[in-house]
Formats: sequence, structure tokens, C-alpha cells
Amino acid sequence: MDKIRCATEDLPKVLFFLHRPVSTMIVTAHHNGKDNALAIGLHTLITHRPPTCGVSLTPERFSYPMIRDSKEFGVNFVTLDKAELIAYTGGCSGRKVDKFQEFGIAKEAPIKTSVPILKDAYVSYECKLIDDRPYGGHRWLVGEIVAVHYAKDAFASEKRTLDLDKYSPTLTLYPTIYTTASQDAIRHMDPKIYGTHRGPLKH
Ligand SMILES: Cc1cc2nc3c(=O)[nH]c(=O)nc-3n(C[C@H](O)[C@H](O)[C@H](O)COP(=O)(O)O)c2cc1C
Repeated sequence: MDKIRCATEDLPKVLFFLHRPVSTMIVTAHHNGKDNALAIGLHTLITHRPPTCGVSLTPERFSYPMIRDSKEFGVNFVTLDKAELIAYTGGCSGRKVDKFQEFGIAKEAPIKTSVPILKDAYVSYECKLIDDRPYGGHRWLVGEIVAVHYAKDAFASEKRTLDLDKYSPTLTLYPTIYTTASQDAIRHMDPKIYGTHRGPLKH
């Protein structure tokens, strides 16, 4: 494999293409009677116990002060056939449009917070903001996941892996180009040969 080797300072935007595809989701917020949603590619689950996740967003996003002040946010994963929800919510600001109304985005009631849950999401989390700190031009927001919503048939297999025949997760290659993971691409690693880092799921 021929490789390009360079300091990041020589190619400042290199991670915009190196770090892709990324699983992309939709963060929702509710504040002062208003709902909003934005696409987020920079995110991770941080810990299982307590259940926490982190999202990175710039303070210029209309959603940022909503989350900072309400101390809550929602996380919503949609399938590739609903990728337009990512493009819609990532393509304009709640400062100018009510995205739920403009794009007819259906929502469901939360159970522990006030954040909108996307009806079309196959997995959603409700989070309470527990940390908010600057990293460069972004804010790193950490949420404790206080409730989950997920499609009953999405994780129905013995190992509770996502059923990729029914639910194709959305991965972003570029903000206008989306792809997915498919059942055909699966490789099984025999734990007798490769070991395993964990025991069976206990829940
Ligand atoms: C695929 C995709 C991924 C994005 N990821 C992020 C991200 O991780 N962090 C961020 O601050 N903005 C991200 N954006 C941009 C915001 O979603 C976009 O600026 C949005 O319009 C902000 O909405 P708001 O002003 O209503 O909060 C992404 C956009 C797209 C299309």
C-alpha cells in the first residue's frame, strides 16, 4: 500500500475525509417551547455504566444554547432510506426554520426529558447534560442517557446485533453522500482463535 505521510498542519482539513465513513445521527433539543434537530457525525458512546455519550458541536449551531440552557438533548439513529432527515436537519438552521414543520418530521413523546424523539428513528436516547466543555472551535457535550427507545425487531437476534436486513444504519462518506453496512459484508471472528474481550450480555 503506497501511503501519504504528512503533518496535520500541512493538510488541516485531512480528517474531513480520513475519518469517514462515520455513523451519523440526529441530535434533538427542546427549549422555551421550541423543538430543533441537527445532524451530528462527531459523537460516541463513552461508558455503559453509567450510560453516557458525547457529541461535538460548534457553539454557532442554534441547537447549542438550547442544549446548554435546557440541559437535555436527544440522540436519534435513522436508516439509510431516511437519510434525507439527516440532510434536512444538517442543511439549515433552526434559527431560520422550524425543521419539524418545514420537513414534516414526525415526533414522539419522550419519557424522561422534554426532547423530541424522532418517530422514524430505530434507536433514540434521551440524555441529561452532565458536561459541556470547549475543544478548539467545538463544544464537547456529555450526556447521561436516562431513557432509550428502540425498534423491537431491530436487535432480536441471539447476540442482539442490529438486524442489517431490516435496519441499514446511515454512514456519512461526505455531507451529501451516504452509505450503509450490509449483512453481506459481515465477517465472523471465532473467539476460540481470536479471543473475546467480554462475556455474554447479562441483560
Ligand atoms: C452529515 C452531517 C454531519 C454533521 N455533523 C456535525 C457535527 O458533528 N457537529 C456539528 O456541529 N455540526 C455538524 N453538522 C452540521 C449541522 O448539522 C448543521 O450546521 C445544522 O444546520 C445546524 O443546525 P442548527 O443551527 O439548527 O443547530 C453536520 C451536518 C451534516 C449534513
